[in-house]
Amino acid sequence: MKFKIPDKCLAPSILSADFSKLKEEIELVSPFSGLIHIDVMDNHFVPNLTIGPCVVKSLSKVSKIPLDCHLMVENPDSLIRSFAESGSNLLSVHFEDNPNLNRTINLIKKEGIVAGVAINPSTPASALEEIIFDVDFVLVMSVNPGFGGQSFIKNSIQKIKKIKKMIVENELNVKIEVDGGVCASNIKVLKEAGCNWFVAGSSVFGTPSPEKAAKELSEFIDV
Ligand code: DX5
Ligand code: ZN
Repeated sequence: MKFKIPDKCLAPSILSADFSKLKEEIELVSPFSGLIHIDVMDNHFVPNLTIGPCVVKSLSKVSKIPLDCHLMVENPDSLIRSFAESGSNLLSVHFEDNPNLNRTINLIKKEGIVAGVAINPSTPASALEEIIFDVDFVLVMSVNPGFGGQSFIKNSIQKIKKIKKMIVENELNVKIEVDGGVCASNIKVLKEAGCNWFVAGSSVFGTPSPEKAAKELSEFIDV
């Protein structure tokens, strides 16, 4: 299915959702969201193991909004085809540990998928100087990847501002996605720093009412 990707939106991360009822969880938050963020972890690139293309394939049949898969895996190239076939609409791969990143990004684009590069908290904005010309979006990790529910790393704000400057100076149409520790107390400043897409896991699905939390967070993005 072809979707329109919003300029700015909330992207709830199902990592903190109830895995026994993912369809229902997605339906709850979708009216207030533009993307569903799916964290793919392989227990090598990060010390955690989550979901793969089989689950994404099932979710793509029920989701009314685009699926944004964040690959935290070693050797992502060998998985691009499977994720394309699973119905993933956006795919991001990490800058770290990938000597052939340009090739990986081209593989994603060839599949007709929106392609992003993700950077860890210890990777500087300057690491993007070359690859930024090839991607559709940059995912800035504002926690160390691997787990939901961690505290936001404040330096990420300065990094996002630098990336936004790089995008504007080069007149690029590249979106910025922020991922990790995003909540009501930092979403406004992240928006002002130049973020387009706001991943939120525990601040949505870790609350008694994911629907209410998504609605409240999305209101910060709209205004
Ligand atoms: C962490 C993942 C995040 C995570 C965010 O490695 O990439 O997407 O789900 O969770 P919160 O919003 O709880 O920090
Ligand atoms: Zn993520």
